[in-house]
Amino acid sequence: MNEPITPIGVFDSGYGGLTILREIQRTLPQYDLIYLGDNARAPYGNRSYDVVYRYTLESVRKLFALGCPLIILACNTASAKALRTIQQRDLPGMDAERRVLGVIRPTVESVVELSRNGHIGLLGTVGTVASLSYPMELEKLEPGITVTGEACPLWASIVEAGEADSEGADYFVRKNIEHLFEQDGKIDTLILGCTHYPLLLKWIRKHVPTGVRILSQGDLVAKSLADYLRRHPEMEIRCSKGGTTRYYTTESPDRFVDTASIFLGHGITAEHIDLE
Ligand code: DGL
Repeated sequence: MNEPITPIGVFDSGYGGLTILREIQRTLPQYDLIYLGDNARAPYGNRSYDVVYRYTLESVRKLFALGCPLIILACNTASAKALRTIQQRDLPGMDAERRVLGVIRPTVESVVELSRNGHIGLLGTVGTVASLSYPMELEKLEPGITVTGEACPLWASIVEAGEADSEGADYFVRKNIEHLFEQDGKIDTLILGCTHYPLLLKWIRKHVPTGVRILSQGDLVAKSLADYLRRHPEMEIRCSKGGTTRYYTTESPDRFVDTASIFLGHGITAEHIDLE
């Protein structure tokens, strides 16, 4: 009999987590992966704490049911609003042997090493910026650090609507970036604190002042996962190594396949999945 597949789960509200998945595929090609995008209910960024928590928990349950021993919430909004509650309240009762990890902690660890003057800019959804998760985590690692957050309520919707390359995207990216740098002109490191934002990188680069470092999360989250697996051999051994990726979306798979294939640079197949 074949061994069951026990993939690492990668979850996002929609397409954004593909920016993390792509780097995990590059860094850790041996592992089986499942990507789950809740496109039918994206974006999460303007939703309340309770709703983001409920939606995220449903996805975590589904990924566990699909056999994942380990899940990465490749979504800052879910990491900011749902991760801690899931880790502390839900996981012990569901399955204490499985793990759910987020993207904020690995990001702040990289930021403190990169910034020279301690002035950090954060671009994120309304939920991520309002949660103050980034300033709180950064303050723990580097007391006195200055973090200026700019909520970008439309950016994830622009990406979900397939408009990332449009002139409209350019307009809204410029508006938010100018506003951020008006608040703190000394920012030397800019966190793209939403996994959808690397899809808008050409516009972001156009409007960010020269010399500012722009930190996308894909690479650093993939490296942090590799490090986690090295430090946790008991988990590493439970993640199957067939090098496959399965894609699930709560929306139409046809639309998901079109957008995801363009972004990933190769064709994929996807299946529809219901979470309730
Ligand atoms: N990509 C997600 C994040 O990193 C969520 C964006 C959204 O759904 O609003 O925050």
